[in-house]
Amino acid sequence: MRVLVVGASGAIGARLVPQLVDRGHEVIGTFRSAGNAGRVRALGAEPIALDLLSARAVRQAVLENGPEAIIHQATALAGVRFGRSLDRSFAPTNRLRTEGTDVLLAAAREAGVRRFVAQSFASYRYAREGGPVKTEDDPLDPSPPAMARETNAAMRHLDQAVTEAGGIALRYGGFYGAASDGLVKPVRKRQFPIIGSGGGISSFIHLDDAAAATVLALEHGRAGIYNIVDDEPAPMRDWLPALASALGAKPPRHIPEWLAGLVAGQGMVMMAVGSRGASNARAKRELGWTLRYPSWRQGFTAAYGQPESRPARA
Ligand SMILES: NC(=O)c1ccc[n+]([C@@H]2O[C@H](COP(=O)([O-])OP(=O)(O)OC[C@H]3O[C@@H](n4cnc5c(N)ncnc54)[C@H](OP(=O)(O)O)[C@@H]3O)[C@@H](O)[C@H]2O)c1
Repeated sequence: MRVLVVGASGAIGARLVPQLVDRGHEVIGTFRSAGNAGRVRALGAEPIALDLLSARAVRQAVLENGPEAIIHQATALAGVRFGRSLDRSFAPTNRLRTEGTDVLLAAAREAGVRRFVAQSFASYRYAREGGPVKTEDDPLDPSPPAMARETNAAMRHLDQAVTEAGGIALRYGGFYGAASDGLVKPVRKRQFPIIGSGGGISSFIHLDDAAAATVLALEHGRAGIYNIVDDEPAPMRDWLPALASALGAKPPRHIPEWLAGLVAGQGMVMMAVGSRGASNARAKRELGWTLRYPSWRQGFTAAYGQPESRPARA
């Protein structure tokens, strides 16, 4: 297929493009930052510069390049400081997920593009009730923390707009697998503590497995939503010490909920003690997806190079 990957120069895009090329697809890859054309070309795609927030440029890029499929992987989180308000940190990404998705879908419709796949997110979104692991059919959190309301609304918008247009929204787990992963620095510096019981569940996915699932969804997924997460949704009290160990860092500190609420905000507390994980059963069943890293236990070690049992550096 002739595939337009929007965000080809990014964390997932850079894993996805070579896998698409290996499968025989012809890839046009977009980048935003000047200087990334070479990176996209080296991945095996034909590079084009594109600002997803320019409706005119998006329309032109889609009509001129005539893709049979579009994969939307654009986010704007590079260099973002994560403070108490997730909505402030995610504001540019939220625009890419709302306005950006809408203009891309409109262009796809006009150009008669047959397949559309977009990046969504699974962790911390499902209703904080009942069991620890949720399927795509389970309800989303009806009242996310105030500091994450716009971010949750943007993800809902994307899920709904894409699936109503007959496309596929991939709710990925937290990405890991690159040296620049967001959690690496704070965990190394012991700035990411276990909050309260640390019982909130997170779902992760290695970037290579996320890319593999995306190729399968493109090739034969049906319209709708898929959780693209690993086999082991896990509480913070389990995955965070393993991540620290894999990084060769000291074990994480523990802080009480009340203190985390004051310092980091209620959104962080929710993720640490209340959140639910996601099930990958549909993606495995319908896409025939098998994971190279079925659990973050092997994946963190593979990504960061230290066995889980290695004693922490003094
Ligand atoms: N599920 C998850 O856990 C998750 C989801 C998203 C991001 N992240 C993490 O966050 C970190 C940084 O994220 P990031 O957002 O910079 O992601 P990224 O994956 O590095 O880049 C996102 C892609 O979107 C492109 N882009 C940015 N603004 C755009 C715009 N206005 N129009 C069109 N394309 C645009 C970027 O182009 P240029 O690179 O050329 O500027 C890049 O190709 C990464 O480590 C990533 O793993 C995690």
